[in-house]
Amino acid sequence: MSAVAERFKIRHRLPPARWPTREEAARARLFQPARIGPIVAEQRSWVPAMVPWRATDDGFVTDEVLAWYARFAEGRPGVLVVEATGIRDIASGPLLRIGDDRFVPGLRRLVETVRDRSDGRTRLFIQAIDFVSVRRRPEPEKFFRRFLDVDAPLRRRLAEATGNTVWFDAPESAVRERLVGAERTLIDGVLDDRQRESLDYGYRERIWDTHLPHIRELPRVLPGLFAEAGRRAREAGFDGIELHYAHAYTMSSFLSRLNTRDDGYGGSREDRVRLPLEVLRAVRDRVGADYVVGIRYLGDDVVAGGSDVRDAAWFGTRFAEAGVDYLSVSKGGRFEDAKQPRVGEAVYPYTGRSGYECMPTVLSDERGPFGRNVPLAARIRRAVREAGYETPIVTSGGIGTFEQAEEILERGEADFVGAARQSLADPDWFRKVRLGYGHLVRRCEFTNYCEGLDQQHKQVTCKLWDRVDVDAPGVRLARDGKRRLAPPSWTPPKADAP
Ligand SMILES: Cc1cc2nc3c(=O)[nH]c(=O)nc-3n(C[C@H](O)[C@H](O)[C@H](O)COP(=O)(O)O)c2cc1C
Ligand code: SF4
Repeated sequence: MSAVAERFKIRHRLPPARWPTREEAARARLFQPARIGPIVAEQRSWVPAMVPWRATDDGFVTDEVLAWYARFAEGRPGVLVVEATGIRDIASGPLLRIGDDRFVPGLRRLVETVRDRSDGRTRLFIQAIDFVSVRRRPEPEKFFRRFLDVDAPLRRRLAEATGNTVWFDAPESAVRERLVGAERTLIDGVLDDRQRESLDYGYRERIWDTHLPHIRELPRVLPGLFAEAGRRAREAGFDGIELHYAHAYTMSSFLSRLNTRDDGYGGSREDRVRLPLEVLRAVRDRVGADYVVGIRYLGDDVVAGGSDVRDAAWFGTRFAEAGVDYLSVSKGGRFEDAKQPRVGEAVYPYTGRSGYECMPTVLSDERGPFGRNVPLAARIRRAVREAGYETPIVTSGGIGTFEQAEEILERGEADFVGAARQSLADPDWFRKVRLGYGHLVRRCEFTNYCEGLDQQHKQVTCKLWDRVDVDAPGVRLARDGKRRLAPPSWTPPKADAP
């Protein structure tokens, strides 16, 4: 067993929960209003972005998307963030898209649904994402016959490894056939690191692959693409746009210490933050000063050679200076340490140590999963406050009780408390707590059944409710016909409850 696996084998119990009375809840920090740039959220509860795989294959809002967000809206969190939504007009499977005006009417319906179901109490943002190419792990034969680039360095390494100079000029097809079925030691000697990775994990682009024209031009095209996404978000009626600068994707990779671009957009901190700032300014220019523009980014990459909280505190201050309206702090979720996928599957950035830190489970180290990322938010918040900015900070990661949330706010570690999986387990939970029905909260067990579904791009559901009353009339089922797509509804026992 590896040292990491060794450390992550303590099974933690859920922390005990003492739920407040309705009167206590009314006085609680969690349920007080707070400003986010030009707007005010009614309370400090927050549902961070979660991809549920319910869009059409061309990225449009479906009835299932509407039903999903309606259900979160019924819990009336202060803020609800719509899943990572693609800013380009390119095929990306059932992931929502905002890369063209034709997506606006569906997104507008989504906004109206959330307004209606939350009684206008929930502020709604949409997360805008860009990502570069990640291919599935190939069949080795296919890799050698079709994908491998047979260039001069490869021929040289093959000649050296076999002690046979014939490979310098042999027909390309002969080189390929020699490698199909070759023993692993030969393959390891012949492929360079990136080729070996493409064989074992699937081809994956880096934002520092500047020899590729579409990667080189990212700094030229991304500000405009994000700005247009911001305009569409505003037109659709969202209260704001969240720029996805976190996890394994394009913008996070620009911020990462791993970014070695040599065109002024990589290397030093100043150069790594340059494009993220240019994107922020472009969005701000397009949407205006009276519209929320937030950023979700990493407090720590959690991969060898990546950025840490010192970088993140510095970036946070730069974003605040540039007028971002909030900072939502996440952690890890990178490709660099992801597990090897099976042949035919794509690498998933939440399978390694950094993935663990992003969505921590009860099988953990001594520290356990609960509120595990809060220190990052606290450190960033301190740096931003010391620089003189009041930018609100959002934390998330293993939070699922009222006391946890209240203590975070009381200690001044964050200004908003995010709960993704706890809200998936029970979208009514904030409302239940506020109305004094905390004892009815269906508590997330933090074992990541939902994340397993996400990994397979299956419609995301929660194990605590997806088999409940599946035969009841009107219940919509997942494509596998076995799971309900939304939890049973809950109405407060008192008819007049807000
Ligand atoms: C099914 C699923 C999908 C997610 N999709 C996104 C996403 O689209 N964007 C994002 O920033 N984070 C995403 N996350 C991460 C969550 O927003 C959150 O940071 C993480 O789950 C840790 O918080 P929690 O412990 O409250 O769940 C996703 C998490 C889950 C479980
Ligand atoms: S499936 Fe498990 S981890 Fe996911 S929300 Fe439900 S209880 Fe929590």
